[in-house]
Amino acid sequence: MRTRRNFIKTVGSAAIASCLLPETSFSQPKFTNIGKKNSPNETIRVGLIGCRNMGWSDLSDFLVLPNTECAALCDIDSNVLNNRAAEIAKQGQKPQLFGDYRKMLEIKDLDVVIIGTPDHWHCLQLVDACSAGKDVYVEKPIANSIAECDAMVKAARKYNRIVSVGQQQRSGNHWHEMIRYINSGKLGKIARVDIWANFNYGALAPSAPISDVPEGVDYDMWMGPTPKRPFCQSHFHGSWRMFWNYGGGLMTDWGVHLIDMALWGMNITKMPNYVTAVGGRFAYPQNCPETFDTQSVLYQFDDFLIQWNHTGGTETGPYGRNYGLAFKGTNGTLIADRDNWEIIPERSNNTDKIERISVKADYKDHLNHLANFLECVRNRNQQTACTLENGSLCAKYAHLGNIAARTKLTLTYDDTKKRFDNKHANKFLKPRYQNNWKFPEL
Ligand SMILES: NC(=O)c1ccc[n+]([C@@H]2O[C@H](COP(=O)([O-])OP(=O)(O)OC[C@H]3O[C@@H](n4cnc5c(N)ncnc54)[C@H](O)[C@@H]3O)[C@@H](O)[C@H]2O)c1
Repeated sequence: MRTRRNFIKTVGSAAIASCLLPETSFSQPKFTNIGKKNSPNETIRVGLIGCRNMGWSDLSDFLVLPNTECAALCDIDSNVLNNRAAEIAKQGQKPQLFGDYRKMLEIKDLDVVIIGTPDHWHCLQLVDACSAGKDVYVEKPIANSIAECDAMVKAARKYNRIVSVGQQQRSGNHWHEMIRYINSGKLGKIARVDIWANFNYGALAPSAPISDVPEGVDYDMWMGPTPKRPFCQSHFHGSWRMFWNYGGGLMTDWGVHLIDMALWGMNITKMPNYVTAVGGRFAYPQNCPETFDTQSVLYQFDDFLIQWNHTGGTETGPYGRNYGLAFKGTNGTLIADRDNWEIIPERSNNTDKIERISVKADYKDHLNHLANFLECVRNRNQQTACTLENGSLCAKYAHLGNIAARTKLTLTYDDTKKRFDNKHANKFLKPRYQNNWKFPEL
């Protein structure tokens, strides 16, 4: 396997491409590049949209894989963009730089796009990338609303693209072993799955003052289809997660990773019978998040429950873990997080009902996940380790949890009619795109 250190070292500079396109999506010409590079010796050329944090990690692991090349970087913050360009130049990569992703998508021999932007951008960027004939690795949660999830699935199908979602636990060996153990039936009847995620960043801090847009930042292109709002560092890089127009708080940020494991473990491929939730800004009400620092959600199925709890501003939790899942069976409880999973048996007549076992992670989830995506791109295999359908299902669950908590209602969601059993809740299904951006109608 090639390592990043082996790249030829050349340092180069590149100019940021101008942002001359009108602010509409879907007006792009259709490109003919269909990304057929079956031979493992052919180079796959990747472009990254959103370079600051997770997108960069995705790109970095992608470039560890053989016969890959970074053709383009795109970010609306030229400070981030130039720093990343300088970093990648040390590895011998000389990508074109862009401030507008639509210009980047015009590169004909760009095979793959990684989307590492805030959640409110994923839908437009994925749909445009698919329509431009690119395969896509999109970060989780796939979207910031239920309607956007559906639009993205439709676009990937319509344009016949290979898409993988950045839920890397799907490529983790210890998670696969956990699923095999659950499917063995040894836990007995599983009546409940508890999920929890307690993180300090869920409560952020008191708000910074409104300020001028920092130099080099295209803030209009950061807000994109969301309502205009004065610039403030408190809702910008990284922190946007805790503001409804950009993210869904811990519920979606960690929710999709962990709910995905619960749905996978319980073989669920549809919506729950109903969802009920409560929450508020209770722990640090003086702080800036709009999303709830404290929240509980119950998903009801025919014969079991899934329960979600988070308490932002704390980092302790059940079983000595600040986040995780507990599959509670009649013979024992399986507790899992990214480090390991273990069995705590129930006892009968002073005897453990099942064996105490513990399985450690190998921490290769993320690299395996990118490797799987690359292999699927080469083989034109749409069954990636985490398909858009997988990503959509758990993103919808996370949004259900937020909508139920925000409306203070117990809700049933009909995923065929695309409607709740309540008019007020229906208003949360689809964002109203603004600033001349059009919601993708496919
Ligand atoms: N898979 C994981 O474990 C994991 C971990 C962290 C984050 N994430 C996900 O990754 C995504 C990004 O999160 P982050 O923490 O990197 O956020 P971030 O705010 O640190 O970085 C986002 C970057 O996108 C850029 N950007 C914003 N709008 C853009 C646009 N229109 N065009 C180009 N660039 C734009 C920003 O300037 C910034 O550089 C989120 O969806 C998040 O949920 C996934």
